[in-house]
Amino acid sequence: MSSAFIRTLGVDVPLIAAPMAGGAGTPALVVAAARAGGLGFLAAGYKTPQALEAEITTVGAAEVPFGVNLFVPNPVPIDPAALRRYADLLAAEAGRHGVTLDPVPVEDDDRWQDKLDVLRARPVPVISLTFGIPSRADLAALRATGALLVQTVTSIEEAKAAAAAGVDALAVQAAAAGGHYGAFDPSAPVTGTALTDLVAAIRHAVDLPLIAAGGLSTPQDVAAVVSAGADAAAVGTVLLRSDEAGTSAVHRAAVTDPDRTGTVVTRAFTGRPARALRNEFTDRYGELAPYGYPAVHHLTAGLRRAAAAAGDPERVHLWAGTGYRRAADGPAAAILTGLAARL
Ligand SMILES: Cc1cc2nc3c(=O)[nH]c(=O)nc-3n(C[C@H](O)[C@H](O)[C@H](O)COP(=O)(O)O)c2cc1C
Repeated sequence: MSSAFIRTLGVDVPLIAAPMAGGAGTPALVVAAARAGGLGFLAAGYKTPQALEAEITTVGAAEVPFGVNLFVPNPVPIDPAALRRYADLLAAEAGRHGVTLDPVPVEDDDRWQDKLDVLRARPVPVISLTFGIPSRADLAALRATGALLVQTVTSIEEAKAAAAAGVDALAVQAAAAGGHYGAFDPSAPVTGTALTDLVAAIRHAVDLPLIAAGGLSTPQDVAAVVSAGADAAAVGTVLLRSDEAGTSAVHRAAVTDPDRTGTVVTRAFTGRPARALRNEFTDRYGELAPYGYPAVHHLTAGLRRAAAAAGDPERVHLWAGTGYRRAADGPAAAILTGLAARL
């Protein structure tokens, strides 16, 4: 099957390797998705502009269609006293790995303007935007690069706002998705609406192409969201163990650890809701963590890095969607081709 939108993207199969910041997403994964007839996204989040540019160069050399995902600055400012209290709470966890937490809030914008400069200098076919809609001027700058613009949304209201802002397509994300929940207001309650229902509702409300993401792990899941009105499906978690993913060893192992007891939406690691495998950290701090992004992300980053290096899965953000038990080993192209079997 091939909708007009899919043809616009220049791909044959309506299946997308979703952006995954923090190491799991790699240029090799993006190229593998394209070789399977689909589309992959580089994740610009947390990367330096130089690293982003290098990844664009690598994928560009493969001469395949691809996208770049950006975290749009939409901070959740934190009361410095609340951050200090959280830092005190975590001090013993950090101490286990010889890390000292810095409780002074870091409220950066992930070098947003520098990344726009990279995309101006190195235009890419598709740009996707997560956490909020850019300002009118920034959206115009992104459009001027010639890219097709995709906005991540989690509700009908966000979908309508994105359509009004003039984006070309929507990535509809259900809360079953691994990693950060793309809601514009992270402190709003996370709804458990099934992805098929969310897609059908947004399909009805907004006349834009839809990419559906969140919890898809079987060919039946993928076919169901397309039947519900999605033009394409996007997967992240099922690719975490693929050959081309850059997932850390501790994260890779946790995804198939039979002792893991499911996933949870937590703000414990970054101050913004994200779905992760349950571990000691989410169990202890899920209810206690303040909202505050990116300050909480920066507060805990060193601890999480040290824990990952030490092979300690209990203090690492093990991002995973509800379909994590089907994350398979092997080439990403084979995983994606298998998922497209019922389309
Ligand atoms: C490890 C990991 C990192 C992610 N990083 C990003 C990101 O940088 N930008 C983004 O928009 N979404 C990110 N996501 C969400 C995915 O793009 C996508 O919405 C999600 O993986 C789909 O649900 P699934 O994981 O159940 O397949 C990430 C997901 C995971 C698992």
